[in-house]
Amino acid sequence: MAELEGLEFGKSDFVLLDEVNMEQFMENLQLRFEKGRIYTFIGEVVVSVNPYKQMDIYGKVAIEAYRGRELYENPPHLYAVADAAYKAMKRRAKDTCIVISGESGAGKTEASKYIMQYIAAITNPNQREEVESVKNVLLKSNCVLEAFGNAKTNRNDNSSRFGKYMDINFNFNGDPTGGHINNYLLEKSRVVQQHAGERNFHSFYQLLRGGTDDMLSNLHLQRNPEAYVYSKEGASVITGFNDGSLHKAVLSAMKVIGFTSEEISSIYKIIATILLLGNLEFECDGEIVQLPGAGSVSHVAELTGTEPETVSKALLYRTVATGGGEVIEKGHNKLEACFGRDAFAKALYERLFAWIVGRINTVIEVKNYNPALHGKNTVIGVLDIYGFEIFDNNSFEQFCINYCNEKLQQLFIELILQQEQEEYHREGITWQHIEYFNNQIIVDLVEQLHKGIISILDEACLTVGKVTDTVCLETMNTKLGQHPHFTSRKHCPTDKTMDFQRHFRIRHYAGDVTYSIEGFLDKNKDPLFQDFKRLMYNSADPVLKEMWPDGQLSITEVTKRPLTAATLFKNSIIALVENLACKEPYYVRCIKPNDVKSPVLFDDARCRHQVAYLGLLENVRVRRAGFAYRQPYARFLQRYKMTCEYTWPNHLMDTDREAVEAIVTQHGFEGDVAYGHTKLFVRTPRSLFTLEQERAALIPILVLFLQKVWRGALARMRCRRMRAIYAIMGCYKRYKVKSHFFEVERRFASVRSMADYGKSVEWPTPPAALAQFHAITQQLHRRWRARRIIKNIPPSDMLEVRAKVAAMEALRGERPDWGFGRAWERDYLANPKDCPQSSSNFMRASKDLKSKDQYSQILFSGSVRMLNWFNNTKDRGLVITDKHIYKLEPKKYKVHKKIPLDSVTGLSVTSDTDQVVALHTATQDDFLVYLQRGELCPNQDRIGELVGTLCDHFKRARNTPLPVKVSSMGLSLHMSGKPKTVTIETKAGLVSADFRKSRAGFTLLLPSH
Ligand SMILES: Nc1ncnc2c1ncn2[C@@H]1O[C@H](COP(=O)(O)OP(=O)(O)OP(=O)(O)O)[C@@H](O)[C@H]1O
Ligand SMILES: [Mg+2]
Repeated sequence: MAELEGLEFGKSDFVLLDEVNMEQFMENLQLRFEKGRIYTFIGEVVVSVNPYKQMDIYGKVAIEAYRGRELYENPPHLYAVADAAYKAMKRRAKDTCIVISGESGAGKTEASKYIMQYIAAITNPNQREEVESVKNVLLKSNCVLEAFGNAKTNRNDNSSRFGKYMDINFNFNGDPTGGHINNYLLEKSRVVQQHAGERNFHSFYQLLRGGTDDMLSNLHLQRNPEAYVYSKEGASVITGFNDGSLHKAVLSAMKVIGFTSEEISSIYKIIATILLLGNLEFECDGEIVQLPGAGSVSHVAELTGTEPETVSKALLYRTVATGGGEVIEKGHNKLEACFGRDAFAKALYERLFAWIVGRINTVIEVKNYNPALHGKNTVIGVLDIYGFEIFDNNSFEQFCINYCNEKLQQLFIELILQQEQEEYHREGITWQHIEYFNNQIIVDLVEQLHKGIISILDEACLTVGKVTDTVCLETMNTKLGQHPHFTSRKHCPTDKTMDFQRHFRIRHYAGDVTYSIEGFLDKNKDPLFQDFKRLMYNSADPVLKEMWPDGQLSITEVTKRPLTAATLFKNSIIALVENLACKEPYYVRCIKPNDVKSPVLFDDARCRHQVAYLGLLENVRVRRAGFAYRQPYARFLQRYKMTCEYTWPNHLMDTDREAVEAIVTQHGFEGDVAYGHTKLFVRTPRSLFTLEQERAALIPILVLFLQKVWRGALARMRCRRMRAIYAIMGCYKRYKVKSHFFEVERRFASVRSMADYGKSVEWPTPPAALAQFHAITQQLHRRWRARRIIKNIPPSDMLEVRAKVAAMEALRGERPDWGFGRAWERDYLANPKDCPQSSSNFMRASKDLKSKDQYSQILFSGSVRMLNWFNNTKDRGLVITDKHIYKLEPKKYKVHKKIPLDSVTGLSVTSDTDQVVALHTATQDDFLVYLQRGELCPNQDRIGELVGTLCDHFKRARNTPLPVKVSSMGLSLHMSGKPKTVTIETKAGLVSADFRKSRAGFTLLLPSH
């Protein structure tokens, strides 16, 4: 925690100084620097002092400590600002930006990298692949951009020679979905010339020192930066890094980002082209300028995918359109040729760099973004732009860079100092105005239309004829001589630090800078012969061609003057400032402790100067007097109303302000707030933090509550739907049942009068619910029909009907024919039609038997063939009465054998048409009988009749069923207690059926017809 950092480390926030003055400020800054505390807050602004040594305050553990914490909960750190910006973006869906400022070597680029690492580390907890790859490209892009856009200067070994503003886009989850890099004014003059002790861009040395032998020989390069005019100056300069290994890192980063191998190859071909161009020398032979080294030209042509002749031509001549629309070729003099070559080299590099940035942008741009689907797309911008620069010799580039810093300072003033104070005034908060230097006047000096320096430069460039730098300086002297921030030797003749006709001085907010006007106009005009543009546009290398779209225009078309470099830069910076102004800003103010890159030296004067021009003291004063946080009453209420019983869920007070007062009073923050006309001002972040904490604790409860209500609503909805479904189902079922009933009723309405009582009526298919009912109804109908039929049978026929029913049940359909269709006569022996010769004899004999054995009726009688005691086949009469079974002699019908009917235990018949039957007896002395058919009908089946009659009798008279066995494989029976089997065979030529003894018993032989 910030306050846990002991006082021996100084005050972690300058706001806590006992007195706000430069002495105390510097004392605290120095103490903290010496104690290794390189970061200090001014409220939400982080002041950072370059430690010039590796600090053990970054990495995973530190990131975890800062993640999701409030600003003042931990010691000051870049991570704290990064988290604050991220939180503001995530919590309030605010676009934020982190502006990192400070002079060259103060640590801006390092800070921006730590900030990006922090954001990458805390996002995408679910490790979603697409988000990871966006993060990866964002991080890797630094390495590539630094290789091509940074160089060693006398102030910084890794000085950014371009301005960088990177937007990181986030989805509603707070995960990065893409980004965009804007680059500003690359210092391209460095490509062709470097100050003493400085280097060209890293990329040249990386290629020359790190490229493989193959690569270098393909590019026609030698592994020696000394060998090239453009890299010679920096060849022996010692830097802290290894160009060779960095080259490999850059190559692999480019691959990760998604550069194709063709693109990478084109990039290095361009770098090689530039180096080779630098070594081209022109020879002057009288009027004519020539290129002696044809080899280099052909290499350049090969590397750029062009023809050597066209390359030479572009270097030596320029195409000019005359007034009459004619096109002529004009040879260069030596100076012009050198100038053209250098301009070409610079433009090649500048376009290469812009193309690389554009290429990275196409990879990281947010794709498939749909606001309706993905929610608000929020942005965190990180600005790492070149810091204020004062060199011994300051030129056009320093002018632009320092102007840019003036603009950013202006933004800082507007957002932090001016707007803040204006707001207190507007809101009616008592406020002691704090004085600060407003640099708007310097900004105007540079950019004002018609009067500003840029306008004067542009005018000079537009003027036809020879306007020199000195003439331009004269114009400035005349037009700006009265300006308090502009001076020159002419206006200050005693100042020997400036030369007449050469120097002018601007009193910048950060100090006085003397600029040398030399080269201003050329750099501003930035001329490049159209011939080079056309040459490159016609290259066979598609990557190169893509970088030069303007080469498409023919010479006669190029009429419109392009905007000057200064104006282009001004426009881009104005756009940048506008973009930053609409975001919530977070500031990192970097301070360079000394000019010798020492980790221990705190150069008081240098630091004091930076503190002064960065306006840090004013910042502390405004902060101290001011309020850390403000919000319109309605917004404040909306966010924190759940923390107070009077305001949750809605307050009943007259105004939102009163409701806010209720919240403030409940939490005891009265002393820490001020009430404006429309906003509440909170002095310390601590109060807000308490509210945030309380809110965070309550949110889950609210979420649960909402979930409960919503789940209840869902369940009720589901229940209603189910009920409706059941109601519909019920109605439909009732309808189906009813319609089934109606249909049955309709079909069966007249069955009473039908001949078959509705047997032929087809039943409608019932609904599933009525399946059982349907079966019962069908059965009822059958029964009813049976009753109707039975009712019509005369009582005299009932015996026969019953016997037939009994036969049907007993035979179970296993015999094909069982005499169902004929009248059952029963007493065939007494039937004169069946036995015309013997029936009278039988009637006599049966009369005697009846009187003797007292039976009441003959159940069955007929002629039979059966086996005698000696197993010989004999014809006999078989009579079955309700008391006995008789075996009678077939003429006079004398009784041969008589057994009580009770002793019959069952019957066996075959499933064929034969007339054999076994009557099983309890004494195991069974009757095996073959029924003879009389004359009534010789083919009648009488087995069914015998079986049915006996079964019916047993059922009615004894109430016990008589078991009947129907088998297809002959019969099994016992004779004299012994088991016998009767098989059935047919035999040709036999007149009538006959029994034969067989091994297992008997064979019934049947005639074969
Ligand atoms: N936090 C840090 N920890 C360790 N070293 C640092 C830190 N910040 C800066 N440095 C050192 O200072 C050098 C310069 O820092 P950096 O390149 O970030 O400066 P800059 O402000 O971007 O300068 P320029 O405007 O020239 O680009 C770095 O190369 C590094 O050696
Ligand atoms: Mg930098």
